[in-house]
Amino acid sequence: MPVPYARRLSASTAKKKKEANSAVMRKKVMDAVVHGKGKGGRTIQSHLEATRTQAYPTHMLGNKSKVPRESYQGWGHIPTVRKAIGNPHIPGRVIKEALYERSAKAYEAEWNAAARKGKLKASAKAGTKQKMDQWAKDITRNITNANARNGQFVANEVKRRIGANDKAGRLTTLVDLGSGAGKTIFPTVEKLSPSQRKKVRVTCVDVSSKDFPTIKKGLLALGVPKENILLIKASFGSLLKNPKLRSLAGEADVVTSGAALHHMSRSETVFSEVQKLLKKGGSFKFWDWSHPTWRAPNLVIAPKGAEVSINGRAYKHNGKIVRGKSGMAFISQRPGKRRNLRSELAQTREMLSTWVSLLNFSAKEKQAFRQWFDRRVESGKPINFESYLKRLQGKRPSKKAEIEVMEAHKTWQNYSRALKGSGMNFGRPVFSPDSGLLVHYSAKK
Ligand SMILES: C[S@@+](CC[C@H](N)C(=O)[O-])C[C@H]1O[C@@H](n2cnc3c(N)ncnc32)[C@H](O)[C@@H]1O
Repeated sequence: MPVPYARRLSASTAKKKKEANSAVMRKKVMDAVVHGKGKGGRTIQSHLEATRTQAYPTHMLGNKSKVPRESYQGWGHIPTVRKAIGNPHIPGRVIKEALYERSAKAYEAEWNAAARKGKLKASAKAGTKQKMDQWAKDITRNITNANARNGQFVANEVKRRIGANDKAGRLTTLVDLGSGAGKTIFPTVEKLSPSQRKKVRVTCVDVSSKDFPTIKKGLLALGVPKENILLIKASFGSLLKNPKLRSLAGEADVVTSGAALHHMSRSETVFSEVQKLLKKGGSFKFWDWSHPTWRAPNLVIAPKGAEVSINGRAYKHNGKIVRGKSGMAFISQRPGKRRNLRSELAQTREMLSTWVSLLNFSAKEKQAFRQWFDRRVESGKPINFESYLKRLQGKRPSKKAEIEVMEAHKTWQNYSRALKGSGMNFGRPVFSPDSGLLVHYSAKK
C-alpha cells in the first residue's frame, strides 16, 4: 500500500532532523563554513565573501581588515548555511560555532600578516629617530596605567589564594585570555614576590601563537618555572574544546584578560566559558575599552537628561520614547554617576579624536576635529566620523597609520549586562582615572 503523502513528508522531516543533529552534519557544516569544502561550501563562501571584502568597520576608519567577523550581520548567515547544505534543521549553535571558528582562523591570519608588515616597517624605519607626538605618549601612558592597575588587582587576588593552595600542595592557576605579547600577564606576575612566582601555574591563551615565544621568555625571566608555563592556542568562544583547557575546567583560581575580550562579538559566550574554567569562588578580572562610538555610522546626541538605551537605538525623554532611524544611534549627555565615569558624549569625543591621532594626523588635526565635533553637538547635527575622515583624505598623515584592525569595542553597560547574565557574582566596574575609555571589571564564581 502506498504511504500517504503526509506520512511520507513527516518521515523525511524526521530523517532530516536526526541527520541535522549528527556528528557527520557538524563536520559537514565545519567543512563548508570554515574551509569551503563539500556540499554548499562554495555557496556559503561566496555569501561570506561579501562580508569579507567590506571595509571593517565600514563606518569608522574605512580600513580594510578582511576579517569575516560574524558580528557584521549578526546571525544572518544561519539560514544561508542551512539552505546551502540542504537541511533546514541544522541547529543554529552548530552554525555559530563554525562561524566563530572561521572568524578566529581569519583573524589569526590577519594578525600574522599585520605582524609581518610590522617587521618590514621596522626595518624600513631602522636608523630614523621618530619623534613621538604627545597623543601617542598619552595613549601609551593610559594603556600602561590600565595594565598596571589591572595587574595589581589580579595579583592581589592571586596572592590571596597562594597560601591555602600551597598548604594543600597545589599550584595557584592563573589564566590570561588574549595574552598577545604579554602586556597583561607581565605586569600581573611582576606584582608577585619572587617566591610567589614559583607557586603559580601561568596559562596564556591566544588565538594566535605568534607571541608565545615572547611570553615564555618573559615569564622565565620573571622566575616562573618552565614546567608551570602553559601556552595554549584557542579561541575565546570555544576555550573548553581545547583538551588542555578542558583539563583545567573548574581548576582556575583567577582568570584575567586585557584589551582582548571585545574581539568576541558575543561576550556571553566567552563569559560562560570563563565560568566553566573557574573553580568555585574563583575570580575573573579583566579590563577593556569602553565607549559607545561603535553603535552606528551616524551618532546623534540625545537631549540633555534623556536616558539612552544600551544599544543607543532609542532614548526616553519627558516620558516619551524616541527611536532612531536606520544607521543612527543616540549618545547620552548624562554625566556619569560613578567616580571617574564620563558621559557617553565625553567618551565619544575622546575616542573619535583618539582615532584621528591613531591615524597619525597631527595634533592640530585632532584639535580641528574636536572643534568640528563640538559645533555638530551644538547644532544638533549627526556626527559621522567616516565623512569627517573623507575631509582628511587629502591631507597627509605624519606617517602611515599602523592601526590596521579596529574592533567592536563595548560599552561598560554591555559588559555589565553580559556578566550579570553569566551566573557569576559581578562586582562594580572601575573606571580609569586616566581615560574615560578604559574600564576594569570583576566577577566571582
Ligand atoms: C589588543 S591584543 C591584547 C594583548 C594583551 N592582552 C595586551 O594587553 O597587550 C588582543 C589579543 O587578543 C587575541 N584574540 C583576538 N581574538 C581572539 C579570540 N577569539 N580568541 C583568543 N584570542 C583572541 C589577539 O590575538 C591578541 O593577541
